[in-house]
This record gives sequence, C-alpha cells and structure tokens, in this order.
Amino acid sequence: MSKAPDFAKAMSGKLEIFSGTAHPQLATEIAGCMGIPVGPMAVTRFPDGEIYVKVETSVRGKDVYVVQPTCPPVNENFTELLIILDALRRASARRITTVIPYYGYGRQDKKTAGREPITARMIADMLIAGGADRLLTIDLHSPQIQGFFDIPVDHLTAVGILGEHLGGHDIGDSVVVAPDAGRVNMATQYANRLNLPVVIIHKRRTGPEETEIVHVVGEVRGKQPIIIDDMITTGGTINRSVRALLDGGAKADILVAATHAVLVGKAIEYLSHPAIKEVVVTNTIPGGWERLGGLKEVSVAPLIASAIQRIHADTSVSEIFA
Ligand code: R5P
Repeated sequence: MSKAPDFAKAMSGKLEIFSGTAHPQLATEIAGCMGIPVGPMAVTRFPDGEIYVKVETSVRGKDVYVVQPTCPPVNENFTELLIILDALRRASARRITTVIPYYGYGRQDKKTAGREPITARMIADMLIAGGADRLLTIDLHSPQIQGFFDIPVDHLTAVGILGEHLGGHDIGDSVVVAPDAGRVNMATQYANRLNLPVVIIHKRRTGPEETEIVHVVGEVRGKQPIIIDDMITTGGTINRSVRALLDGGAKADILVAATHAVLVGKAIEYLSHPAIKEVVVTNTIPGGWERLGGLKEVSVAPLIASAIQRIHADTSVSEIFA
C-alpha cells in the first residue's frame, strides 16, 4: 500500500468512499488506511421504514466506493445498498464500486432441488441494475459467483491474514480441517501456507438446516485440528466437526478460523465448546462476538484499502497476493 498522506494528496477530490449503515466502523478503518475521510452521506428511515439516502457532497465524475456487507439484517442492508447506488448513479459518479466484504445470499448459488431460485445470481443482477460498475468482495461462498457478474469482480481472500495469525501459534502437530467438501480448496490454501496436512469432513445434508457427518477423511488421532471455514452462521458445522474430530481421537485443543462471523442462533454457545481453544475471524461483519471469550479478530481494512488504491490507480490487484 502506498503511504497514506501521499495517496490522500494525489487522490484528493477524485475518489470517494461512502458507507451504508451495515458496518461504518470498517468503512472508517478502510478510509483511515488511505488517509482520507468517509464521504458525507445521510442514510435514514421514514416513519414507515422506507430508506432515505442523500449524498452530501458532489460525486460528479468521481471514482466512488460504497462499503456495505450484506450481513444481517440482510434484506435491509441489501435494499439500502441498492438505494445508495441509485443516488450515486443519478448524481453522475464516474464509476461505482460496491465493496461487499461479506456477500449475503452467497450460499444460494445453485438449484439443489426443483422450483428453487438461484438468489446469489439474482442479487448480482440487481446490483448491476442498481448502478454497480465493479464488485470488490472477500471469500465468496463459492468463487463461481464471480461469473454471475458481467462487470469486473475483484475477489480478495482473507486466508493470508488469518493464516498469518494461525502461524503465530505452536502448530507443528496440527492438521487443517475442511468441514465439508466445499472447503477443500480453501483448506489446501491454508495447509500450503502453514505446511500442514489436510483432513476432510464428509458432511451430508439431511434437511434445510440439518447436516450429519458421515466420515472424517485423514488422520486426526493425537493431532491438533485447525478447522477452517468461509463463514460461521449458526455454528452447527463447527459443532458437528468438533464432535467428529474428538470422536476420532483428535486433541481437545482445537483452533477455528473463518472469514465471516455471521454468528446467529446458537453460534456463541457452540463456539464456547471447551475443546475449542481459540476462534479467529475477520471484521467483514460488525461485532457480536464480544460475547465470546477467546475469540480473536483480524482486520481486513488494510487489504481492502490496498485493493481500492490499486483499482483506482489501474494497477494489479492480484499482486497483493503474490
Ligand atoms: C457451508 O457450505 C458453509 O461453508 C459453512 O460451513 C456453513 O454455511 C456454516 O453455517 P453454520 O455455522 O450454520 O453451520
């Protein structure tokens, strides 16, 4: 990342960062990394709940970034984002990049039964119709979601910063655990960074919200598991994985790393399992985990700020990960 004061001087007046109400702390942190303030914008509600947005500075001809994870309340945050895009488009922004650190509805990326929607695709269509020119996001549930967008997508990963945190532990005798087949690729990325083997948990869906573990593939006896995932929602996946690993003879000294801490339902209870030594997540979604002792947070703000600077300057974003 270039030095913040130099960047701020060079970009003054040409680039604006705005925030919806989903995660203003993250937007402030990103802007802080770049040495610029978050742009002034009012986002309020009418008495009947309708959303009102007013951009309080000129964006005519500017390169604009809107930070809004579509985390719970998902539908409120998504609708708010669309309205912000509309306001910016009508105010003649030159280019609008939606910065969606956590892409809600990402798990509905295919039909698994007849007469189902592909909502992740529909969300993409709505963002483009709303005025998005680019998407900047982190650890999509499935990378193929990029193909739902006919605009450029910069897909960042938090594996590097979470892996760096994990590397600070004594993990010589650990295994990286993919809690389902969909996470094997991500687990392999962690394993390559940490120089550890991969273990895969074979999970079978038994209902819309229930899964059961069928097999643990790989040796876990006497090992310290590092369970990785893209997101923790109800914590059910982690809970079932912990039980299966302990049944398989793994050490009751488990580390958990996930990019998106959605944390609803029984998540805090499940993550407080005595065999879990530490849970590390990023701040793509605002707080809630303060209730959980032993949870560590690493910030994605420097990563996003670096990507924004590169997009603005038309330089390579993938070089961040080189
Ligand atoms: C599943 O495919 C995902 O990668 C996560 O494992 C899952 O969405 C986590 O949800 P929960 O915490 O509710 O089990």
